Amino acid sequence: MTARLRLRGLAAACVWVCFFVLPAQATPAPLPPKAAIASGHPLATRAGLDILAQGGNAFDAAVAVSAVLAVVEPASSGVGGGGFYLLHVAANDRDVMVDGRETAPMAASRDMYLGRSDGAGSTDGPLAAGIPGEPAAWAWVATHYGRLPLAQSLQSAIRIAREGFELYPRLQNAIRVKQRRLAASPDAAAVFLIKGEVPPVGARIRQPLLARTLELLAREGADGFYKGAFAARLAAGVRKDGGLWTTDDLAGYRIVERAPLRLHYGDATLVTASPPSSGGVVIGDALAILAGYDLTALDANTRRHLTIEALRRAYRDRAEYLGDPDFVRIPIEQLLSPLYAAGQRTSIRLDRATPSTVLRPVFTGDESPSTTHFSVLDRDGNRVGATISINLFFGATYMVPGTGFLLNDTMDDFSISAGTPNAFGLVGADANAIAPGKRALSSMTPTFVERPGGLMIIGSPGGSTIISNVLGGILNWLDGKSAAEIVAAPRVHHQYLPDSVMLEPGALSAEERADLEKRGHKLREGRTTWGNTQVVTWDYASGKVEAASDPRGAGVGLVY
Ligand code: DON
Repeated sequence: MTARLRLRGLAAACVWVCFFVLPAQATPAPLPPKAAIASGHPLATRAGLDILAQGGNAFDAAVAVSAVLAVVEPASSGVGGGGFYLLHVAANDRDVMVDGRETAPMAASRDMYLGRSDGAGSTDGPLAAGIPGEPAAWAWVATHYGRLPLAQSLQSAIRIAREGFELYPRLQNAIRVKQRRLAASPDAAAVFLIKGEVPPVGARIRQPLLARTLELLAREGADGFYKGAFAARLAAGVRKDGGLWTTDDLAGYRIVERAPLRLHYGDATLVTASPPSSGGVVIGDALAILAGYDLTALDANTRRHLTIEALRRAYRDRAEYLGDPDFVRIPIEQLLSPLYAAGQRTSIRLDRATPSTVLRPVFTGDESPSTTHFSVLDRDGNRVGATISINLFFGATYMVPGTGFLLNDTMDDFSISAGTPNAFGLVGADANAIAPGKRALSSMTPTFVERPGGLMIIGSPGGSTIISNVLGGILNWLDGKSAAEIVAAPRVHHQYLPDSVMLEPGALSAEERADLEKRGHKLREGRTTWGNTQVVTWDYASGKVEAASDPRGAGVGLVY
C-alpha cells in the first residue's frame, strides 16, 4: 500500500487546507478501561496517579507530574523553564497546544551573544535565560482544564521538595558533568553538592527554597510568581549577575494557546506540536516525502536509508524557514504539500546518500540529556503529552538567591548568528534570530497518533534528536510494535548538518552499517544513547492500555 498523506496544518488564526486523500474517519474511541502515565521518574508517575485517584483528570495529573519532575529531575525541567502541553479534551473532542515556551526578554537583541570573550553567554548564567513559562503553564492548565485546585495538584511536589528524594545514578551523572558550573552558583551548590563535591547515590536531595516557591504558586497562582515582590526579587537577582530581565518582562509573560498541527499519514492521524516547535513540521515534511514510497514493500535497510534522506531534507527546511510564528511567516502549507515532497524526492536515490552540501544551502554538538516528556491518559479519554525543559543539563546552572530553582538556558535555541550551530549542532537563519519577546524555535514534539484501531501518546527529550526519535516511534507503532518495544528501539538520526548519520552504540548490525556506508552515508556511532521516550498506547479492540518508559532513563510507566 502506498501511504497516502493528507495534512491540515492549523495555525492560531487560520486553517491550512488539506492536500491529499482522506483516510477513513477514525471510529470514535470507547472510553479507556484504564488510565496510564509514563514519565521520567517513578515519583512523578505516582504523583499523577494519586491525583487521578483524588478525582482529578488527566490535566490535573499533568500538573502534578510536571511539578514533581521539576523537583526530582532538576537537570531537565522546572519552574525556571518552559515547554509545550499537548492536550486532548475528550468531552468536546478538542486538541490544543498550551505553549508555555520561554520568551526572550525585551532587552534581548539579535547579536547579543556575538563577540563575547567567554563564548558561553547563551548557555550559562542568567544572560542565557528566557522568561520562564512553566509556572504560567501549570496555572493555565489547572484553571482552564483541570477539576482540582492548583494547590492540590502541587502538593506532592511541595512535599518531595521539602522532605527530599534519593539521588539516583542518572541525576548524579548530570551533577558530575555540571559540577564546576553548579559550584559557581551558591544556591545551586547548596542543593546539588556537598562541600563542593558530587553527593553519593542515595543521598537525600532537599530543596526547601523550591518548596517555598511552589507554595507561593499554590497560594497565589501565577501572579505570585510573575508579579509583586517575588518577581522583583527575580528580576533584580538576574540583573545583578549580568542578565536582562525586568519586572515588566515577568508581568508581561503570556501563555499562548495554539492549534496543534494535524497530519494524516496512511490511515493514521497525528496531532502534534506546531511552531514555535519545529517538531510537527519536520515530521510532516519527512512523512510527506516518505508517503511517496511503498515502505511496506521495501527491505529494512532501504527503508532506513529513505528515512535518513527524508530527515536530511526536513531538517534543512527547519534551518531555513522555522521560527516563532508570531514573528515570522512560516510556509507550512508549502513545506507539507505533496507537490513540494515530490520535488524533494527527485533528488533522492535508492542506492546513494545525498551529501547535504548538494542541497540548497541555508546560510549552519552533542546532546546533554536534560528536558523531559510525560504522557497521560485518563479514563474519560483525556490525553496529555507534555515536553518540558530548561534546555541543557541544569539549564543556565544558575539560581537567583533565595528562589530555589534553576533558570533555563533556552536563549541558546535561537540562532545566535546565521549558520552558527547551537549546542545541538542545529543551524538556523533569520527566521529564528533573537528578538525581544520572541520564542526560540524548539524541537520538542509531544504527539498523539490515532488510527481506527487505537492511539499512542509519545514524546521525548533529546534536543535535535527528539524529532527523529518521535518519527521513529510513530513508524514503529504503525508497524504494530508495543509501547515497550517503541521506547526501547535503537535510534538512528540525521539532521542535515552535520552531514552524518548518528547511531546509538550497537544500534545497527555490521551488515546494516555496511549497507548504509555502501550507499555513501557517513556513520557516527556515539558513545552514549539518547532520548528518554515516554509512551502510552491504547488498543480499542482489546481494551489494552500500556504505559512504557524508556529503559535508557530512570522512569516508569504505570497503568491504573
Ligand atoms: O526546545 C528544544 O528543542 C530544546 N531546548 C530541548 C532540549 C533538550 O531536549 C535537551 N535534552 N536532551
